[in-house]
Amino acid sequence: MRQVLVAGNWKMNGSRESIKGLLDGIKAGMGDVKAQVAVCAPYVYLADVQTQLAGSSIGYGAQDIATEDAGAYTGEVSGPMLNDFGGKYVIVGHSERRSLYGEADADTAKKFAAARRHGLTPILCVGESLEERQSGVTEDVVARQLDAVIALEGVAALANAVVAYEPVWAIGTGMTASPEQAQDVHAFIRGKIAALDAGVAEGLQILYGGSMKPDNAAELISQADIDGGLIGGASLVAEDFLGICRAGG
Ligand code: PGA
Repeated sequence: MRQVLVAGNWKMNGSRESIKGLLDGIKAGMGDVKAQVAVCAPYVYLADVQTQLAGSSIGYGAQDIATEDAGAYTGEVSGPMLNDFGGKYVIVGHSERRSLYGEADADTAKKFAAARRHGLTPILCVGESLEERQSGVTEDVVARQLDAVIALEGVAALANAVVAYEPVWAIGTGMTASPEQAQDVHAFIRGKIAALDAGVAEGLQILYGGSMKPDNAAELISQADIDGGLIGGASLVAEDFLGICRAGG
């Protein structure tokens, strides 16, 4: 039985002060949460997050990682640097990195490899744009994004990873995929991986992301192949985030 994981993606939001309040609020409400919970913070706040989550069951991590480990890469943050702050997770291939910063499938695969090389659990984001959905190529796009990682790292690498299906048209738009739409793609992802390694597919947590809120989370997470959520906007308000965590069982 896969455990539900609810991970917050704060994106480029918050301040030292607001993050303190947010984490205090989440910690205070964790008593009745059974899901695994994590937050992915901006790099500059990782030290604060580490301090504030010491001794708590809430996991944390970053939103991106450099492909390289050290050197002349101005502005980048590497796996060894992230390890200095003790987090478990790192998001790779978020659609905002892909679309706004030109991250190609091959770059995402290298970031996935970098995370694994340094003992971090990558949360690999995949998903189609509205145009791609309308032209009926959703599965092709998701398969291509997964294949780039599998080609570089092998399917067994997914045993220590999380996949997040995030239809680009649903991110930050309030337009959630219907539970059926999401389940179809999640089942496709699990089936594709099962064709290579049934055990890896069975154990893999596949999260849904894209306008997940407290009032739609339970129905999404109750789908057979949806094992939790990657939450943007609603992860910035403690009660909303906790509402989704509670919906996770
Ligand atoms: P959203 O973002 O919940 O604000 O739609 C999800 C994400 O981008 O991970």
